Amino acid sequence: MRAYDLIIKKRDGNQLTKAEIQFLVHAYTAGTVQDYQMAAWCMAVYFQGMTIDEIAALTMAMAHSGDVFDLGGIQGKKIDKHSTGGVGDTTTLVVAPLVASCGIPVAKMSGKGLGHTGGTIDKLASIPGFRTELTQTEFLDQVRTIQIALVGQTGTLAPADKKLYALRDVTATVDSIPLIASSIMSKKIAAGADGFILDVKTGSGAFMKEIPKAIELAKIMVAIGKSVDKPTVALVTNMDQPLGTMIGNSLEMQEAITILNGQTQCDLTQLSLLLAAEMLILAGHVPNFAQAEREISHKLKNKAGLGKLKEMIQSQGGDCRVVDDPSLLPQAPYRTAVIAAQSGYIQHINSHGLGLVAMQLGAGREHKDSIIDLAVGLELKKKVSDYVQTGETLAVIHSSKQLTAHQSSQVATNYQLTPTKPNSAPLVYEKISFNDV
Ligand code: URA
Ligand code: CA
Repeated sequence: MRAYDLIIKKRDGNQLTKAEIQFLVHAYTAGTVQDYQMAAWCMAVYFQGMTIDEIAALTMAMAHSGDVFDLGGIQGKKIDKHSTGGVGDTTTLVVAPLVASCGIPVAKMSGKGLGHTGGTIDKLASIPGFRTELTQTEFLDQVRTIQIALVGQTGTLAPADKKLYALRDVTATVDSIPLIASSIMSKKIAAGADGFILDVKTGSGAFMKEIPKAIELAKIMVAIGKSVDKPTVALVTNMDQPLGTMIGNSLEMQEAITILNGQTQCDLTQLSLLLAAEMLILAGHVPNFAQAEREISHKLKNKAGLGKLKEMIQSQGGDCRVVDDPSLLPQAPYRTAVIAAQSGYIQHINSHGLGLVAMQLGAGREHKDSIIDLAVGLELKKKVSDYVQTGETLAVIHSSKQLTAHQSSQVATNYQLTPTKPNSAPLVYEKISFNDV
C-alpha cells in the first residue's frame, strides 16, 4: 500500500477501506508516512468528506495508536462525559459527583484548558494539595472504593490524534467535521468508557459557532458511538453566554461547591442536571428520563453530590475543608467592578470575548505550556435578559494586579444591551441519540 494512492483515492471522492485507513494512521504515527502526504490527505478529506464507515475506522485506528485504558476491573457501566469546550463550563465538577453519588462509577480523565476555554483539571488543581495525577492502580482503586476519580489525561492516549491534530492546526484542516469527530471520539474511546454523553456547544464561545454545524458534529459522533457499540447521546447546547456566573479556576471550583450545596439555581445547574440524568440512563441505572431526573434532583437536595466531592478531594490528597469553606481556595488580591455605562436588558454576552479576558488575566493558557493563575477570573453579576441600570455592576474582575478604569471598561464591551426584554434562547437546542443517526 502507498500513501500516494490513498491520497488520490480520497482526492477523487472514493471511499477508503478500513485496512487502508489503518495503514495510513499506523504509518503516519510510526513516521514512515510524512507530514506532507498526511497533510494532502487531510485536505482531500476536507473537500471530499468521509462516510461513517471511514470515520469509524479512522476513530478506532487513532484510539488504538497508544494505550487503551481497561476499566473492566470496575463493576458496572462506565459512562464518560465530553464537552467540546465552553466558557465557564463548570458542568463536570457538578455532574461527576452527582452521578457517583447514585452509585455509578465515574472514572474520568479530563484535559487542561487552552485559549479561551477552561479545563476541569485546572479547576481541581486550585484545591490545595489535590493530586491531578494518580497511578493507574490508585485511579482504579479509588473508583472501586468511592465510585469517583478525576485525573489529568496522560500523554500516551491516542498519539496518532496528537500528531494529526498538530498537523491539521498548521494546514487549515482543523475545520472538518469528520476529522473533528474522529479526533474527539478516538481519545474518549481510548480512555476506556462503555458509553458517552457529549455536550456539543454552539454559539459565540464555542468551537462550532452555528447550530446546524454543531448538530452535524453531534450526529457524527453519536454515529461513531453506534458503530462501535457504545451507547452515546449528544446534547447540542447554548454557548451564547458563559455558563453559570464564574469563569476562572478557583472561582469555578467555588461555583461547583455552591451548586452542589443547593445554593444556586442557574443555567449551569440546569445543564448539569440534564447531563447527569442522561448518564444515569446510559449506565442502565434507570429506564427513563423522569426517574433519572428525580434521582439526580434528590442527590442535589440531600447534598449527596457535595459529600461525594468531599470524599474525592480527600482521597486525592486535597484539603476537603474547601467544601465547607470555599474561601480557603486561592483568592485574587484585586477586585474591580465592571460598570454598565447605560441601562437596558442584556441581549447578548460575548462568551468568546470574556473567555479571552479571563485568559489574559491569567486564568487560561495562551500556549500549551503557559503558566496559569488559579485565583483570577470573572464573576458575572448579570446574565442575558437581566435588566441593568446605568452604574450597576455587570461583573467583577478578580485579578493579580490593579486594573485601570480603561481595562475594566473594555470588559463591558462584551455586553450588548437592548431597551426591550429579549426572548430567552433555549439551553439545549437538540438531543441526538442512536435513533437519530
Ligand atoms: N477538539 C479535538 O479534540 N479535536 C479536534 O479536531 C477539534 C477539537
Ligand atoms: Ca461557570
